[in-house]
Amino acid sequence: MIVLGIESSCDETAAAVVRNGHDVLSNVISSQMALHAGYGGVIPELAAREHLRNISPVVQEALAAAQLTIADISAIAVTSSPGLIPALLVGNAYAKGLAAAQGIPLIGINHFLAHIYGSFLGQPEILADRSSYPILALVVSGGHTAIVLIEADGSARILGSTLDDAAGEALDKAAKILGLGYPGGPVIDRIAKTGNPQAYAFPRGLTGAGGKAVKPEHRYDFSFSGVKTALLYAVKDKTLDEASLADAVASYQEAVMEVLVSKAMTAASDFATPLICCCGGVACNSRLRVLMTEETARLGRRLLAAPPKFCTDNAAMVAGLGWHYLRKGLVDDLAMGVEARLNRSLGVLPFAIG
Ligand code: KG4
Ligand code: ZN
Repeated sequence: MIVLGIESSCDETAAAVVRNGHDVLSNVISSQMALHAGYGGVIPELAAREHLRNISPVVQEALAAAQLTIADISAIAVTSSPGLIPALLVGNAYAKGLAAAQGIPLIGINHFLAHIYGSFLGQPEILADRSSYPILALVVSGGHTAIVLIEADGSARILGSTLDDAAGEALDKAAKILGLGYPGGPVIDRIAKTGNPQAYAFPRGLTGAGGKAVKPEHRYDFSFSGVKTALLYAVKDKTLDEASLADAVASYQEAVMEVLVSKAMTAASDFATPLICCCGGVACNSRLRVLMTEETARLGRRLLAAPPKFCTDNAAMVAGLGWHYLRKGLVDDLAMGVEARLNRSLGVLPFAIG
């Protein structure tokens, strides 16, 4: 079965065609980054207007790249939550219209779960292998930072999440403070390579570092507001030359990535998870990938880090996850709504063994 995926939850208009949940036939992304760069963040109404302009050509391009027509599509999967409401509405209205016109099923997709599924695209054997479970997922994007435990029967729960900013948001805000543009993650990744990560002693929130005890209920939670404020004060009223800027960036990135890795490893150890996956836009970060590789090896676990094109927002992860719901008959109807917030009860994930 071939699923057309549509993604419009934030600032990427994306469409992809995926066969049987894993075989990515096309993956088209139209980014609005340049449009929002001047504002230092995504403006929902502007994003919606751009989605409206781009959605039809992007879907047509995805079908053409897959050398298919809409008549070959078995179902349409569309991100319906969480995300920016005006942006989500465009993709949903388009998907509903297309599904109704074609008389094919519509499947609403949780973007957070789609990011997790992005790690497994093209890896059906890992999902089918009982020894992979329980799986630990570190979800790190511009909107979310969470640790999720996935059991072989598909039950999943969020062990911890951020109490304030998401990791990507912390990077984007730091870039704004330093005048590096939007989005901050990729530019921080690049500049950090030339700096000294030990130059500034930035706080590691909710880790116990610095002698501040962590309450047991926050063992797997994150907080990035402290490191952001520390950066703000460290550079306030200073003119940084290129080398000191690189040092500040490298130290900041190190503080964020170290916390992500240390919390993920604590959870992996506590729950004896043989497989750890890392997904979402921040999972593109080269330092995070190095640290995750080193620390999972040290713990004797397996790391699954998706290729960067399936880490940042894309519709292949949406179409792939959609197929798993479709084969179980879990489809939606035209009354389906959109939601801005993540529902913390993740339901049963359809891609586990079951
Ligand atoms: O998953 P994503 O594309 O969108 C959301 O669902 O939020 O993630 C976007 C986030 C942004 O905050 C961006 O700065 C970050 O991912 N990002 C990176 C890198 N590439 C993108 N962060 C660190 N290093 C990167 N190389
Ligand atoms: Zn995303």
